[in-house]
Amino acid sequence: MRRAKRIRAICAALLPCESFADVGCDHGYCTQFMLENGLCRFAVVSDISAGSLAKAERLLAAYIRAGSVRSVCCAGLEHIPREIEQVLIAGMGGDEIADILSIGFLPPVLVLQPMRNARRVRELLFGSGYAITLDYTFRDGKFYDLLRAEKAAAPRAYGERELEFGYDNIHSPGADFAAWAEEELAKCERRLAAAGQDVPALRARAAALSEVKHELARSLR
Ligand SMILES: C[S@@+](CC[C@H](N)C(=O)[O-])C[C@H]1O[C@@H](n2cnc3c(N)ncnc32)[C@H](O)[C@@H]1O
Repeated sequence: MRRAKRIRAICAALLPCESFADVGCDHGYCTQFMLENGLCRFAVVSDISAGSLAKAERLLAAYIRAGSVRSVCCAGLEHIPREIEQVLIAGMGGDEIADILSIGFLPPVLVLQPMRNARRVRELLFGSGYAITLDYTFRDGKFYDLLRAEKAAAPRAYGERELEFGYDNIHSPGADFAAWAEEELAKCERRLAAAGQDVPALRARAAALSEVKHELARSLR
């Protein structure tokens, strides 16, 4: 079955592994993708909501019967086995993802799709010794950030702009990020105009976005 672009983008970011966990799995599509494509041998699907988890249990019933998928109803990483190699957390806020990782454990590979505040996620990953090997924005109706972090990969240098906007958006920008920057700058300018006075934080963000926008215009030309 053809999935939404967001789900396809998340699946494309996942690496082959022995064991995989989808935390906050809801429908379970990403685990189905991993198993159907032989990208993992064992998977755990988890969700804090029994009703959401039931959807994944229905989709993956044959794998659960065969013992290649375990389903657990829990908050965050609470009952996820620590030896799991790759953990996906998608569709939650960046603060919630960062909180889950801070009180849980840090697996070798993480694929994360925060709905907002990706910066907090980047800071946590960078500060925890991960190499962030994928970090870009895509559009599927709305704009989404998608990150992959690996403990064993060569690190990429993160400065202020990479933390704020995402490494790949700065170093190999795509059209979706350019559209995001354009919209975000327009939003900032409208807010500044509506404020009727100087708001230094907004002005600084507008200046950073304007700089990014001009660089993008040069690199996408
Ligand atoms: C918007 S859905 C995203 C589903 C799927 N991961 C995706 O990206 O399409 C968020 C899911 O995360 C679950 N959830 C929210 N907070 C959670 C937590 N702290 N631990 C586990 N699951 C959580 C919700 O019950 C819901 O099913």
